[in-house]
Amino acid sequence: MDVKGTVAIVTGAARGIGQATALALAREGAGGVVVADVKAAELEQTAEQVRAAGAEVLIAETDVSDLASLRAMFEETEARFGRLDVVHNNAGIGEGPSTWPEVAPERAAAIIDVNLRGVVLGTQLALEPMKRSGGGVVVNTSSGGAFVPLPPQAVYVATKAGVVHFTRSCVALHASHGVRVNAVCPGIVETPMVHETGEGGIADWLKPLVDAIEPLRPEDIAEAVLALVRDDSKVGEAVVVENQPRAQ
Ligand SMILES: NC(=O)c1ccc[n+]([C@@H]2O[C@H](COP(=O)([O-])OP(=O)(O)OC[C@H]3O[C@@H](n4cnc5c(N)ncnc54)[C@H](O)[C@@H]3O)[C@@H](O)[C@H]2O)c1
Repeated sequence: MDVKGTVAIVTGAARGIGQATALALAREGAGGVVVADVKAAELEQTAEQVRAAGAEVLIAETDVSDLASLRAMFEETEARFGRLDVVHNNAGIGEGPSTWPEVAPERAAAIIDVNLRGVVLGTQLALEPMKRSGGGVVVNTSSGGAFVPLPPQAVYVATKAGVVHFTRSCVALHASHGVRVNAVCPGIVETPMVHETGEGGIADWLKPLVDAIEPLRPEDIAEAVLALVRDDSKVGEAVVVENQPRAQ
């Protein structure tokens, strides 16, 4: 798909990977970008950058774990722009400073709701608007953790494995709705999320992993997302973006 003139939704767009994708879409010529996040106040910063890159912006205070909130955002998008071409279901949370199994059950439930429920519903709600627009592309953010057991973040990696399996099971939506669903699976990316894994910084269990690799930049993941949007041959794929070993 040619990104020029498209209308795109990016969730978790207030910072990190979502912010980078929203900006990359605008730079590539998207006509309208919906920046969606629970952190409404912080969305303005992303919106400013997207506008400066030449796209129209809709700021949507959205909780992806809440069906009514998600539905309202999709309806507002179509009402404002009249079409929908791209959705990056990217919002996600981890165990935070707590680890499995000490993580509060409420937090465990929230991880499942944001990371898996949000992606499933964000894909489902995109189908009809994209069909009306002549087809579209959904990119779901999973994680390299989808393929590797990570005991301190057992809930997080379970949801990310679910995102991969869900994405691979959406292949038929290409024939039925003209919608290609793919996933991006980043390694460790330099975003605020990594620094919130511990109390006031990177978690002790994560430090040896971070020390061993070159961190990816949010822009690296945004480029992988755009590659999946552009390449019409990609359907039901989970593309891994790996870290390189740290240079000595
Ligand atoms: N940073 C990494 O190393 C890494 C690695 C692999 C995968 N990921 C995934 O990439 C995605 C983006 O992560 P990031 O590193 O940019 O993290 P981040 O914490 O910097 O950004 C995530 C954004 O999602 C938003 N969000 C959280 N809950 C939400 C909800 N219910 N509804 C709407 N928005 C919500 C947050 O407010 C935040 O702005 C996540 O799905 C994460 O799991 C990150």
